[in-house]
Amino acid sequence: MAPWIFLMFHSLLFLQSAPSSFAKFPYRYFPSSIIRPETPSLSSNNKLYKTKYFTQILDHFNYNPQSYQTFQQRYLINDTSWGGPKSKAPIFVYTGNEGNIEWFAENTGFMYDIAPKFKALLVFIEHRYYGKSIPYGGDRKKAYKNSKRLGYLSSTQALADYATLILDLKNNMTAMDSPVIVFGGSYGGMLAAWFRLKYPHVAIGALSSSAPILQFENITSQYSFNNIITQDFKSESENCYKVIKGSWNQIEDTASSHGGLELLRKSFHICKNYISGGSLEGWLETAFTYASMTDYPTPSDFLAPLPAFPVKEMCKAIDNPTLGNDTFAKLYHAANVYYNYTGDVKCFDLNDNSDPHDLGGWQWQACTEMIMPTSGSNEDSIFPVYTETYTGHSRYCEKNYKVQPRPTWITTEFGGHDIRRVLKHFGSNIIFFNGLRDPWSGGGVLKNISKSIIAIVEKEGAHHVDLRFATNEDPMWLRDVRKREIGIMQAWISEYHQNLVDSYTF
Ligand SMILES: *[C@@H]1O[C@H](CO)[C@@H](O)[C@H](O)[C@H]1NC(C)=O
Ligand SMILES: *[C@@H]1O[C@H](CO)[C@@H](O)[C@H](O)[C@H]1NC(C)=O
Ligand SMILES: *[C@@H]1O[C@H](CO)[C@@H](O)[C@H](O)[C@H]1NC(C)=O
Ligand SMILES: *[C@@H]1O[C@H](CO)[C@@H](O)[C@H](O)[C@H]1NC(C)=O
Ligand SMILES: *[C@@H]1O[C@H](CO)[C@@H](O)[C@H](O)[C@H]1NC(C)=O
Ligand SMILES: *[C@@H]1O[C@H](CO)[C@@H](O)[C@H](O)[C@H]1NC(C)=O
Repeated sequence: MAPWIFLMFHSLLFLQSAPSSFAKFPYRYFPSSIIRPETPSLSSNNKLYKTKYFTQILDHFNYNPQSYQTFQQRYLINDTSWGGPKSKAPIFVYTGNEGNIEWFAENTGFMYDIAPKFKALLVFIEHRYYGKSIPYGGDRKKAYKNSKRLGYLSSTQALADYATLILDLKNNMTAMDSPVIVFGGSYGGMLAAWFRLKYPHVAIGALSSSAPILQFENITSQYSFNNIITQDFKSESENCYKVIKGSWNQIEDTASSHGGLELLRKSFHICKNYISGGSLEGWLETAFTYASMTDYPTPSDFLAPLPAFPVKEMCKAIDNPTLGNDTFAKLYHAANVYYNYTGDVKCFDLNDNSDPHDLGGWQWQACTEMIMPTSGSNEDSIFPVYTETYTGHSRYCEKNYKVQPRPTWITTEFGGHDIRRVLKHFGSNIIFFNGLRDPWSGGGVLKNISKSIIAIVEKEGAHHVDLRFATNEDPMWLRDVRKREIGIMQAWISEYHQNLVDSYTF
């Protein structure tokens, strides 16, 4: 068993770094120094939205005086295109996920692109305990101090925040009749879908992109995630797959040989700090995993600055005949595609576990309700064979947070088992988009559930690719996906307006 897989928690976006108290374990690191802020032109002059704060209740679900504490919840708003309350023009709300909302807002260009067509108001709400929406006086240290305080970090509280804020905002704008559609990608997409199911009186529909709502319990196999990554690389070239698959033993052998770590450090241009075989393997696996997730058809800058089709580029480096049989050189050049596409990284710092997008709270969520087994690797996997156990996971959580996960809570609260049968007659107006190159697509809704719970599945797509800003280089399939999504949402809105007229005359 490769120890570096043992304690990894897949955040939907990140295989997140561990709290420093556990740094003695071989963790995968979050290499912030080489992941630059997203689309700097946008974030620096901040022209896309105005920032606001809302006084939010800490605990929506009990009347203990303690629970009346409040915190400042950040939301971003853009009313440039909005038709206003008189015309009952729609409100598009992004249900924020596990990180800084500005980062998600700047990577959800689709909403900006379509706002003029819909005359829509855009609102991006930050998830509690992330970014600037921190309870306990906005002090991150205080809020994350212990499990008693972290206990208010949950998906149900977050959804209640969104409902509360949306209703208050509509009320303030006297826009109670403006229909709301919720949008989200990844965990944000899960929240959008669940929001539609739990708050149908607040949102008329949801665009849920790359949302693995079926990655809980054993609804989806724990091997599916790594199988998809394996498939992504295999489909580029069989040799590429074989080189990567064969490299793990070679790294471990080298690491345990005399002078081996120094050789690895040199081969991979690693900075002069602590390195182990495990941390190198984790660093490489992170690159392969994120390349799969963000295997977009155009250059991008979401997790890192990347060329179009990064998996193809990695395999090109690995298949490069001038590197002969030098596995480490091949892997180095492949990793360079992910970590050093801009070419200005001096050395790779495997010990950097800083967190520029503020995703750290996911560790807590993954230790309480977000139990999504994805680490399994079978014989065919591009990664070493591994089976994830619940015991290992819960031991980590006990040690780290003094909590026991509740692996069946999400399916109890939101469902997931037999989803087609359950939602066919109950739910409506949800679009589930999934790109099959995305390792998370295995836990997504890939089949139509009813006339209005629609699965849009794209073979060439990656992680919420549909939500990205449109570019002139977008392939036909991507334009087509967005066109279909727009058409479906237009139908929801017309139906809503029609029903409103009918209810007046009723
Ligand atoms: C709002 O979004 C539109 C695109 O939908 C963009 O052109 C504009 O710059 C944004 N404006 C503000 C003030 O946020
Ligand atoms: C609505 O207006 C009140 C009073 O001005 C304000 O305190 C509150 O933050 C506003 N709600 C939102 C969502 O901005
Ligand atoms: C999932 O787990 C339950 C409970 O452990 C078990 O009864 C069921 O057979 C499992 N289903 C699959 C598909 O493995
Ligand atoms: C690479 O090939 C050369 C000669 O073909 C051989 O001597 C060397 O041992 C090989 N190296 C590895 C790592 O397989
Ligand atoms: C990053 O790329 C540049 C240009 O290809 C190269 O000179 C540099 O050595 C690379 N950095 C690392 C750490 O390998
Ligand atoms: C779901 O139905 C729509 C038509 O309503 C169709 O375009 C789409 O391809 C279907 N999705 C799947 C995954 O079959």
